Amino acid sequence: MSVTAIYPGTFDPITNGHSDLIQRACRLFDRVIVAVAANPKKTPLFTLEERVALAQGVLGGMEKVEVCGFDSLLAEFARQRGAAVILRGLRAVSDFEFEFQLAGMNRHLAPDVETLFLTPAEKYTFISSSLVKEVASLGGDIEDFVDPAVKAALNNRMR
Ligand code: COA
Repeated sequence: MSVTAIYPGTFDPITNGHSDLIQRACRLFDRVIVAVAANPKKTPLFTLEERVALAQGVLGGMEKVEVCGFDSLLAEFARQRGAAVILRGLRAVSDFEFEFQLAGMNRHLAPDVETLFLTPAEKYTFISSSLVKEVASLGGDIEDFVDPAVKAALNNRMR
């Protein structure tokens, strides 16, 4: 049986923490769909198309991975794409409360789809897209946290 996992997020922009999680997922699942949410309530720095393109550039070498954008209900999108698993990352205990709510609601909306959690490598447990953007905007070095293409895009946007 082939198992597809869907990894949703805003990815504004994709970081090495996300990529680390996706690499781990590729060892467990036959197909990993990286689902970039439009998520207008977060007023992203990059447009949906830009976030998808950045993620595609970073993950292009991973043959099990597909990147796509969506602006609908995640549970519905997961069903449409035949995903048995919604994958989320847990970096710290502070992530847990929100993730628990999200998993509960998604289970209510799509009882046949299971939410599974993975933890990224320890060196990525303290980063987030917002923190990376803030450091970049103040001229700090973000090289350890994002792909060179993402760093270039961020520096360009911050200019
Ligand atoms: N490494 C580094 N950072 C990570 C990470 C990892 N492995 N995993 C998460 N993060 C960071 C992200 O960069 C993000 O940082 P930010 O808040 O500074 O931008 C933060 O953790 C959490 O973001 P993310 O994982 O992208 O989740 P989100 O809260 O932005 O997105 C959705 C939540 C998109 C999954 C949710 O809103 C959704 O499903 N939307 C679709 C509509 C829907 O179905 N809504 C009902 C949901 S029940």
